[in-house]
Amino acid sequence: MGAIYEDFVSIGPGTLAGRFLRNFWQPVALSGSLVLKRSMPIRILGEDFTLYRGLSGAAHLVAPQCPHRGVSLALGRVIGNNIECLYHGWNFGPDGHCTAQPAEDSEFKKDVCIATYPVHEALGLIFAYLGRGDPPAFPVLDVFKEGRIENRASYRPWPFFAQIENSVDETHFNFVHRGTKFDEIGMNTQIPMLTCEKTAYGMRRLAMRGGAVREGYFFMPNWSLSSKYEHEEGWSDHVVWRVPIEDHAHISFTCEIFYQNSVEREAYDKAMQAKHIKRQSMGSALDLMKEIVAGKMHIDEVPTDHPDIILIQDGVVCSAQRFHKDRATEYLGASDRQVVMLRRLWGAELKSLNAGKNLTLWKVPHDLKTSRGI
Ligand code: FES
Ligand SMILES: [Fe+2]
Repeated sequence: MGAIYEDFVSIGPGTLAGRFLRNFWQPVALSGSLVLKRSMPIRILGEDFTLYRGLSGAAHLVAPQCPHRGVSLALGRVIGNNIECLYHGWNFGPDGHCTAQPAEDSEFKKDVCIATYPVHEALGLIFAYLGRGDPPAFPVLDVFKEGRIENRASYRPWPFFAQIENSVDETHFNFVHRGTKFDEIGMNTQIPMLTCEKTAYGMRRLAMRGGAVREGYFFMPNWSLSSKYEHEEGWSDHVVWRVPIEDHAHISFTCEIFYQNSVEREAYDKAMQAKHIKRQSMGSALDLMKEIVAGKMHIDEVPTDHPDIILIQDGVVCSAQRFHKDRATEYLGASDRQVVMLRRLWGAELKSLNAGKNLTLWKVPHDLKTSRGI
């Protein structure tokens, strides 16, 4: 198979990939991180924003800077459902209109307006639509209602597309995650045979290990549903959005969906407490990744009972990958089938966007079910 040659890494406002991603709802923060009547700065898709929660409880996403003299609105005070700039008190409503300029004799507030963006809060996440026109329908999956959702936001200093490719590339389990609990649960007993099919939502992914089939789903443009095994946490349905912050960094926003009875939940809570303590004593994942990528230690020197061993292993390959715009020098084989389809799906959309043609209207069925495949 030939290499596919597109720039999926540059995500700033003027880039093709950046313009494409702005056509979809993207998570920008955990709901729990935004306190009532507080504001915070947000950086996403190479741009800054101000996120605040008004008195009504609704979250609002607005411009990063005050139009008066450019101070960050994230420093401001939330007054009712408005945001007031800290510097000279200019006040802006959720619709962006300036409602007060207390230090001005002759107010010219009717001429002043800041950008605002549609926000949708669901699943413990705050989603924003940064594109033009009306946002698409918000996708809903049955699994969201069937289990207990735990949200996480994980900063990862490598391109979002490298992370998506890593996730659809299960053959790496047998190499990158060798020696971990993946071996014990039977995930690494043989190299899986990967197949996939293009669907109305993106890609249906299958991984065959012996007679067992592991099924997961990639949703265009940057989110997915799969069954996931994590050390000490056990199995969950894993819904994750890979949202770029910069070209070479992203946040993975996740809904981990657990199906535990009360006894399992109690054991899980204890395991999570132990994991938290262990994490503090064994070094942070990001620090260890830096050491390994810099050649100061080898990945196999990290104890495999490190609570974040899977993240560290994935992180070092993704951040040390030569993930340039020019993919023409790669050799893609049969085990890269899902990566190839992913790039083709993305490549076709970027070409349509570039040519001013209509983009595909992706449709996510609500009743998709994952399988572990072991
Ligand atoms: S800079 Fe915001 S009110 Fe002056
Ligand atoms: Fe991995």
